[in-house]
Amino acid sequence: MKEQLEKIYTDAVADIDKASTVKDLEDIKFKYLSRKGEFNEIKKGLKDLSDEDKRVVGALANNITQKLESSISEKFQLFYEQELNKKLEKERIDVTLPGQFVPHGHVHPLTSTTNEIVSIFQSLGFSVAPNSDSPEVETEYFNFDMLNVPKDHPARDVQDTFYTNVGENVVLRSQTSGAQVHVMEGQKPPIRIIAPGRVYRNENINSRKNNFFHQIEGLYVDKDITFGDLKGVLNEFIRIYFGASRPTRFRNSFFPFTEPSAEVDVQCIMCEGKGCRTCSGTGWLEILGAGMVDPNVLRGVGIDPDVYSGFAFGMGVERLAMLKYAVDDIRLFFNNDVRFLEQFKG
Ligand code: DAH
Repeated sequence: MKEQLEKIYTDAVADIDKASTVKDLEDIKFKYLSRKGEFNEIKKGLKDLSDEDKRVVGALANNITQKLESSISEKFQLFYEQELNKKLEKERIDVTLPGQFVPHGHVHPLTSTTNEIVSIFQSLGFSVAPNSDSPEVETEYFNFDMLNVPKDHPARDVQDTFYTNVGENVVLRSQTSGAQVHVMEGQKPPIRIIAPGRVYRNENINSRKNNFFHQIEGLYVDKDITFGDLKGVLNEFIRIYFGASRPTRFRNSFFPFTEPSAEVDVQCIMCEGKGCRTCSGTGWLEILGAGMVDPNVLRGVGIDPDVYSGFAFGMGVERLAMLKYAVDDIRLFFNNDVRFLEQFKG
């Protein structure tokens, strides 16, 4: 029995020496050391030996099993380290290599222009009307009717306004002025709000016109509001936005929802007023429409025009951005060409 044990031990040691994979080792472990393994088979015979032999052979069997177990686990360890080294070699990283460039996004120039305009008006005591950036899909009631726009006004024409197939009188809003009605229907004077938002018009697209663009509407209704207040607020806005040096002018105009009405022009930044393609040779660019809220509009929302008066304005965000940054084509804002947009970083 002793010889048998020693023979198995020598065979096992030879097998372990030859083993070249983890799988080989597992097989060896199974062959010699598992419950059905060769050692166990022999150990079963122990019970037939004398007590003395049992002790000697038993000790030998234990000794051999321990030795085998430890050489197998040493070799396991060796394989494990080799495997690890191979993996480390393969996945080695050069920490001195430059990292991958991940471009940082930034706010779109129209958003930053809107934010700037909003904060100027906030500093002048206006607040942003709740939910004013919606709905962009509007009924004619808010977009035209309540703003005193006659049924046959050319602005209502499908050539100018996008009608939806949601309902006969549902349009993509063509101006933010409808926000005035929303606000006045929900709130009594004093009212001092601005409402930024996107508007849509059925335009032929060119360097100055796009079929959607952005406006900021303003409304101030209280007792004793005058055209002088309107001029004061708008001049102050222009002074802060452009700096004192940019010449501006108020021009007489007409809008159905204001009386009297005005438009404000800023000297063209491309030609410094000399006249160029951008300003159609006039030297001026219009940035906003404004006026004293028509009594009919006030009456429509239940505000007594004999007690209250107000002014309103609507300015074009693209125009204001073009004038400040000397952008000569409105389409640049919408093409999303990063070479253009990157200039507005920071
Ligand atoms: N809604 C006008 C437009 O889109 C601009 C405008 C003019 C707004 C006069 C006003 C206003 O609030 O009082 O052309």
